[in-house]
Amino acid sequence: MSSLKEKISKEKLPRHVAIIMDGNGRWAKLQGKNRVYGHQNGVTSVREVTEAAAEIGLEYLTLYAWSTENWKRPKEEVDALMSLLVSTLNNEKKTLLKNNVRLRAIGDLKSLPGKLYEQLLETIHDTAHLTGLTLVLALSYSARWEMVHAVREIARQVSEGKLAPSHIDQITISNNLATAGMPDPELLIRTSGEYRISNFMLYQLAYSELYFSEKMWPDFRKEDFYEAIADFQCRERRFGKISEQIKQH
Ligand code: FPP
Repeated sequence: MSSLKEKISKEKLPRHVAIIMDGNGRWAKLQGKNRVYGHQNGVTSVREVTEAAAEIGLEYLTLYAWSTENWKRPKEEVDALMSLLVSTLNNEKKTLLKNNVRLRAIGDLKSLPGKLYEQLLETIHDTAHLTGLTLVLALSYSARWEMVHAVREIARQVSEGKLAPSHIDQITISNNLATAGMPDPELLIRTSGEYRISNFMLYQLAYSELYFSEKMWPDFRKEDFYEAIADFQCRERRFGKISEQIKQH
């Protein structure tokens, strides 16, 4: 069977794809299992998609793994997911190193349990020299949290006399977001048939193409990822201009 991978054009590859991984709980419930079983199976999809992204030569893949609102979930689920993240990072470090994948994380990382925070910092440190795909985990992240953080930082620079208010521009804002130094995602994928942004990268998604998959995250495989990229490559991105202006280039 031929793969959609062959249909992907190297020239029109997005630099950054972000994914809202959704549907783990519902997937598990449909099978009469508990929600944690869904998260455990979601790890296979994380592995598949990371491998697919590295194979086609993406520069950045961001996965929304935990939001600032997710802390309100039942304690058993929070604890189980935090342990799953620690063990996954621990088990997958070798694979990241072997595949030249650099890890980065965005979010209120200090709010994570100590064990996860340490494991995360260690993996980020040990993969910092790698030059292939950058895998970004959004953990205890929300766009509004990020914006508050950015505004406070910019206000501090102003109050210390290091920045004039009239010099604040879009670059200043980008540089003070958790994603500083990264290109904005050209493509956002959300699984599980939900059509929401859920407080994710609100500033960075200004011009992103949105792709919604009906599949629950634990069912999402490489081919589904390729399908999203192939769909993206068929779209015309106008950035506020008209079609004829885009075709001139
Ligand atoms: C959304 O499904 C999923 C999450 C909140 C957690 C995602 C975490 C993983 C897949 C674990 C491994 C991740 C990494 C990066 C190693 P949901 O629980 O909101 O599902 P529901 O909408 O059906 O309730």
